[in-house]
Amino acid sequence: MVTTAEPPSTTTAATQPPPAGQKPTRPRVLSGVKPSGSPHLGNYLGAIKRWVDAQDQYDNFFCVVDLHAITEDQDPANMARLTREVAGLYFAAGLDPKKSTVFVQSHVPAHAELGWLLNCVTPMGWLERMTQYKDKAAKQGDNRERISVGLFDYPVLMAADILLYQAHYVPVGDDQRQHVELTRDVAERFNRLFGPTFVVPEALIGESGARIMGLSDPTKKMSKSEDLPGQSIGIFDDPSDIRKAIMRATTDSQRDIVFDESRPGIYNLLTIFEVLSGESRPAIEARFEDKGYGDFKKALAELVLDSLAPIQARYKQLMTSGELEHLLREGAERAAPVANETLRHVKNALGFLVS
Ligand code: TRP
Repeated sequence: MVTTAEPPSTTTAATQPPPAGQKPTRPRVLSGVKPSGSPHLGNYLGAIKRWVDAQDQYDNFFCVVDLHAITEDQDPANMARLTREVAGLYFAAGLDPKKSTVFVQSHVPAHAELGWLLNCVTPMGWLERMTQYKDKAAKQGDNRERISVGLFDYPVLMAADILLYQAHYVPVGDDQRQHVELTRDVAERFNRLFGPTFVVPEALIGESGARIMGLSDPTKKMSKSEDLPGQSIGIFDDPSDIRKAIMRATTDSQRDIVFDESRPGIYNLLTIFEVLSGESRPAIEARFEDKGYGDFKKALAELVLDSLAPIQARYKQLMTSGELEHLLREGAERAAPVANETLRHVKNALGFLVS
């Protein structure tokens, strides 16, 4: 067997040399969205738009994490459609296949395989401390018959996603910070036990817009929720539904339109305005100084619709032309060799009989 490249160094992301077998000139990022519902404004503003805006600074890998979607109840009748919707949004929002490798997680089998290998170096206790798991388990009444092993193991698969590509940075929302920390811990433990193998990644948490909240209950993150109609704005919703959801969004009984985190409803709407308009907070506050909530909501609805229109148009084109399938095939073909190279290093380090 011939080893052609040195394994990567194990210093932290900012100071790392290029990983094994690759020569990126820019730091690498990897992130993903789970296709567990139709994509909404929170996915776009909190994640995808930020990836698009920073595309020229990084060596980019973005996947649709369908293997994560099956950790909770998932209707097989919807899986493929939702995966296409999220992938379609990636491209329609502006991820450029010349600059970004975009693919579906399950199309690159190395994710599941590294997930297994990392399972065997991850202590149970680390996963038992994950707050997302604890919250989701609590929602099921901590009933062990209703929570899958996959849900418990979710962060290890996420670590595999990141470490396979030797990513330096992981742009995610604040709620994923703990999972990126776990990824670092797993990488460091592996490197210590089996020799330098993985780049130790860092989370990139955005400022404004990192966390878009729901419109009906602005204390909860925006998500598609059956019990809270109007909580999310679907990227592909009809304009009239989008207008309605914004006009009905929960605010408060005060009047002034200012960025005040203690008023979650109006703060969230202003944040959406800020991220979409690119205007400064003082400029936005000045713009609505003597206006009421109704006027502000109308302006916000128009801004949201104007921002989504070109995305929706591009999306339609992609979905009906067969272009999406072609792009995703190409993406997986580019991702797989990078992932397989890391996997080969990992199996070597663990002492497997390499074929
Ligand atoms: N857990 C992430 C979320 O819910 C999705 C995800 C899976 C992810 N694998 C990833 C994000 C790898 C970044 C990198 O948002």
